Amino acid sequence: MNAKKRVAILISGRGSNMTALIEAAKAPDYPAEIVGVFSNRAAAPGLETARAEGIETATLAQSSFPSRLDFENRLTEILEGWRADIVCLAGFMRILTPEFTAHWQGRLLNIHPSLLPDFPGLDTHARALAGNVAEHGCTVHFVTPGLDEGPAILQARVPVLPGDTPETLAARVLVEEHKLYPEALRMVALGEA
Ligand code: GAR
Repeated sequence: MNAKKRVAILISGRGSNMTALIEAAKAPDYPAEIVGVFSNRAAAPGLETARAEGIETATLAQSSFPSRLDFENRLTEILEGWRADIVCLAGFMRILTPEFTAHWQGRLLNIHPSLLPDFPGLDTHARALAGNVAEHGCTVHFVTPGLDEGPAILQARVPVLPGDTPETLAARVLVEEHKLYPEALRMVALGEA
């Protein structure tokens, strides 16, 4: 097999999608390895999970930088220090500048909890319920400057069931997220996306 792609993951919180990627990458034939986890919040629970897996971690608060661009330039230095080929956003709740997304274009992935282009932004599950949709789901896409706008790599669908709340719907979607992201990263690492 060709050399595994080196992958950095950016999180802000729980990190369950990060954990799904870490678990998938343990398979000997998986074409990517997780080389570092970055969080913009030092208290993100996912950092502890990554450390327990022996993965390098780093944190920076944007508030300690004079501008978003300065923060992102330092972030790119960290990612390049890890020699990351691919960067996966996994619940990373910061909007990135066009400069950052251009730098990583084609190598920057995100998972979003809706069937894009439906429901970009926040509170996707509540908005799907308010919209009375029959189906909801998640999307892994390449990141471009527009919010949740880049080309989709894979999507997974779930039914919306009678009596669903944002929480029950989110839980049903999350099960699919944990399968979808490893599969999408596999495709990108193999040059199939
Ligand atoms: C996931 O549901 C992810 O799709 C969503 O945040 C959650 C993070 O959970 N991402 C976004 O809403 C991005 N706009 P996790 O930290 O357990 O992976």
